[in-house]
Amino acid sequence: MRIGIIGAGTMGGILGRHLAKLGHRVAIANSRGPESLTALAAEIDAAPVSVVEAAKAGEIVFVAIPTKAVANLPRGLFANVADSIVVIDIGNYHPELRDGRIDAIDRGMLDSQWVAQQIGRPVIKAFNNILAKSLLEKGVPKGTNGRIALSVAGDPLDAKAAVLRLVDDLGFDPVDGGDLDDSWRQQPGTPAYCRDLEAAALRRALAEADRSRIAEYRAEREARIRRDIAAQTPGVSTRQ
Ligand SMILES: NC(=O)c1ccc[n+]([C@@H]2O[C@H](COP(=O)([O-])OP(=O)(O)OC[C@H]3O[C@@H](n4cnc5c(N)ncnc54)[C@H](OP(=O)(O)O)[C@@H]3O)[C@@H](O)[C@H]2O)c1
Repeated sequence: MRIGIIGAGTMGGILGRHLAKLGHRVAIANSRGPESLTALAAEIDAAPVSVVEAAKAGEIVFVAIPTKAVANLPRGLFANVADSIVVIDIGNYHPELRDGRIDAIDRGMLDSQWVAQQIGRPVIKAFNNILAKSLLEKGVPKGTNGRIALSVAGDPLDAKAAVLRLVDDLGFDPVDGGDLDDSWRQQPGTPAYCRDLEAAALRRALAEADRSRIAEYRAEREARIRRDIAAQTPGVSTRQ
């Protein structure tokens, strides 16, 4: 398959590396342009391209950038990209730690609904609820005991089916996380978020999430990340 990746940081790089190894043709972009990506692209066997080219480069296109950066993507980026192209949003909104406040999300819009609105087309939410290290190291063949499961939420059924297959190919048990309107169940801090659960446990965790606690889940997660950073970096103040 041809795959475009917008974002060549930790997650975009890992996805690109794994997907190229699986034999897919990967084109990858960042904010600074393809010339800044020559070394990474050669290392992971991908083509370094512009953001505009990455959006047109795949049957599947990943958006793998900080949430706040989605608003800075070129206007009409997907306007001439066929409707059949599947767009995956792997992002997580971190207002205190990174993104600043996005009013629409703070007022109740789901992270990926906001991304879909910004880019003007449907997205499938996936790969947001696994940490980079697990994505890099923990994919295993289907049927392996303890295989980690990843949920996939989104509306176009054929698009979601394609992403569920990709999750499996990458070494994780695919779990249908429902419509995009259900995607809050895998947002930051929820019981299903980044816990490396197996399929049955992930389904239970998705079911037990409480919609009235979205903001609380997020705040708890950000507080935990802040504590982890402080613990790893003695002497660094955690006050913002
Ligand atoms: N790290 C994790 O464990 C993890 C796990 C799950 C989900 N996520 C989510 O995945 C997303 C990416 O995370 P990450 O850890 O990979 O971030 P990262 O390492 O900071 O990389 C961010 C990438 O986005 C690019 N970028 C920023 N603004 C851009 C723009 N306007 N146009 C094109 N590219 C742009 C950056 O390019 P430049 O360097 O050129 O600016 C960089 O390549 C975030 O939403 C994050 O919350 C992260």
